[in-house]
Amino acid sequence: MSTAKKDYKRITTKSLIEMKANGEKISMLTAYDYTMAKIVDTAGVDVILVGDSASNVMAGHETTLPITLDQMIYHASSVVRAIQRSLVVVDLPFGSYQSDSKEALRSAIRIMKESGAHAVKLEGGREIKDSIKKILHAGIPVMGHLGLTPQSIYKFGTYTVRAKEEEEAEKLIDDAKLLERIGCFAVVLEKIPAALAKRVAESISIPVIGIGAGGGVDGQVLVVHDMLGMTHEFSPRFLRRYMNLFEDMNIAISQYVSDVKSTDFPNEQEQY
Ligand code: KIV
Repeated sequence: MSTAKKDYKRITTKSLIEMKANGEKISMLTAYDYTMAKIVDTAGVDVILVGDSASNVMAGHETTLPITLDQMIYHASSVVRAIQRSLVVVDLPFGSYQSDSKEALRSAIRIMKESGAHAVKLEGGREIKDSIKKILHAGIPVMGHLGLTPQSIYKFGTYTVRAKEEEEAEKLIDDAKLLERIGCFAVVLEKIPAALAKRVAESISIPVIGIGAGGGVDGQVLVVHDMLGMTHEFSPRFLRRYMNLFEDMNIAISQYVSDVKSTDFPNEQEQY
C-alpha cells in the first residue's frame, strides 16, 4: 500500500476509491449555502455533503423529515456554484425515493439536472436496492448510508448507537456488501460501534465514511455547523468542536448592537 498523498485538482468518485486503495483518509463536511461551501472547498475538503441535516441546521426542524426535494435542490445549487475541487453529494430527502424506484430515479435526476451536483446519497440497504440500481443505471453515482439513518427516526425511536447487537451488525455488514456489489461508490456509516465500522471498511473495497463510527474507517464526515461550534445544543461524544463560533459571533453581534445604540457606528470613515 502506497502512502503518498496524490494532489487531486478535482475530486471524483474514482479519486475516492483510489484514496482508499492508497490508504489516504477522506475528509467530508456538510454545506448548504454558497458562502460556507466556498470556505469548505477552499480549505481542501474532499467531499461536500448537501445533507438533509439542512432541515435541522438551516430550517430549525427537529428531524430531517420535513425538508423537500425543491429545498434540497436550492441548497445544492448554491453549493455547486461555490466549488472548484470538492465532490458534491446531495441527500435524497425523505419521501422522494421510498415509494418506488421510478420516483427515486425521478428525484435523483432532478437533483443532478437542476443543481449540477455530482452524486446522490440515500439511506438504507436491501429495502431500497431496486431504487439504487435504477439510479445507478441512469449513470448517477450513489453513496449509501447505513447504521443510524435519521430519516427512520420514528422507527428507531432514539438517536442512540445502532447495531450493537449481533443480528443488526450482521445485517449491516451484508447491506454494506450489497451496496458495494450493486455499484455504490462509497457508504456512510453513522453512529455504530468502532469495531464493527472497521470490520465493514476492511470487508469492502469502496470507501467507508464514518460519523460516530471510530477511526478504523476510510474517512470522516461532520456537520460543518457542529464542528465550527455554531450550534451548541447538540453535543454527541463523536463531535470535535474546532471553534466556538456561537460565542464568538454572539460577542461580535452584541458589540454591533451596542455600537449602533451608542452611535459609535458608523463613524466618520464609515460613511460617504
Ligand atoms: O444529512 C447529513 O448531514 C448526513 C450526515 C450526518 C452524514 O447525512
